[in-house]
Amino acid sequence: MTEIRTIGVIGLGAMGGGIAQLAVEAGYDTIGREVSGELAEAAAGRIGHFLTRKVEKGQLEQADRDVAVARLTTTTELDALAGCDLVIEAIVEELEPKRVLFAELDGICRADAILATNTSALSVTEIAAATARPERVVGMHFFNPAPLMPLVEVVQAELTSPETVESAAAVGARLGKEVVRCHDTPGFVVNRILIPLLNDCLRVLDEARVTPEALDSAMKNGAGWPMGPCTLVDLVGIDVHVHASEALHAQLGEPRMAPPERLVEMQREGKLGRKSGQGFYSY
Ligand SMILES: NC(=O)c1ccc[n+]([C@@H]2O[C@H](COP(=O)([O-])OP(=O)(O)OC[C@H]3O[C@@H](n4cnc5c(N)ncnc54)[C@H](O)[C@@H]3O)[C@@H](O)[C@H]2O)c1
Repeated sequence: MTEIRTIGVIGLGAMGGGIAQLAVEAGYDTIGREVSGELAEAAAGRIGHFLTRKVEKGQLEQADRDVAVARLTTTTELDALAGCDLVIEAIVEELEPKRVLFAELDGICRADAILATNTSALSVTEIAAATARPERVVGMHFFNPAPLMPLVEVVQAELTSPETVESAAAVGARLGKEVVRCHDTPGFVVNRILIPLLNDCLRVLDEARVTPEALDSAMKNGAGWPMGPCTLVDLVGIDVHVHASEALHAQLGEPRMAPPERLVEMQREGKLGRKSGQGFYSY
């Protein structure tokens, strides 16, 4: 197994920020890459803030918080990730930008470094094919919010080596996650089931003419869901859910996988959920 000491995280949004937080807490030297210094600093500030909250709640010692924060550096330069043993990508859920990035990383990172994608529903095999090291490319699919959700799916693409899978699984375990290994099928395990189900829920909004509050109440109180579907899609991000639905639909073709028109409109209007301040609910 490859020994992982330094982790690069690309894209410090909802997912990458959470993954970087997990990495510094677990003792990895971590380099986060964003597209601008402003976004990188804001993400580092959020991670510091979340760790301070853990100290206030008695979940973390102040000294451990400070050491963890010091393990994080941020950059806008991809070259700064040259020394990483593992790079986890968490940028926009679109195939081409991910393939371009993986091709660049392939030229920058050591030949034995592992490149992982946090994609929700794109083909890890297609992303890996943009590199000359597909045996060192793997899916590491975390859930939102990454510091709190216990699962990581470790996805073996067509050419991923068993050793790469085991190295990624070992990192997942050290980050405190329950690891489920699976093969590279559209949506892997959870999203193959959850995305069409959430789309069904959102179509029911119009069919049954209920409000988001009523739908959320129905699924919480009638189906025992911990969180209603509208609240969940707001948390995921309307854009992320639309892209993941499109990816699943393109690969498997089931009509219920296509994003509901209402969501596509919300995306067009910039109502992206929690991150934009407005989705099914206002934040
Ligand atoms: N939101 C979720 O619930 C969720 C859950 C699991 C997986 N994912 C997946 O994680 C990935 C990221 O999703 P997110 O919700 O964090 O999105 P997000 O929009 O919150 O964050 C994406 C970040 O990536 C940055 N970025 C874009 N291109 C970049 C590049 N080339 N280099 C560096 N940074 C770049 C953007 O500036 C942005 O800050 C997607 O593939 C998504 O499908 C999302």
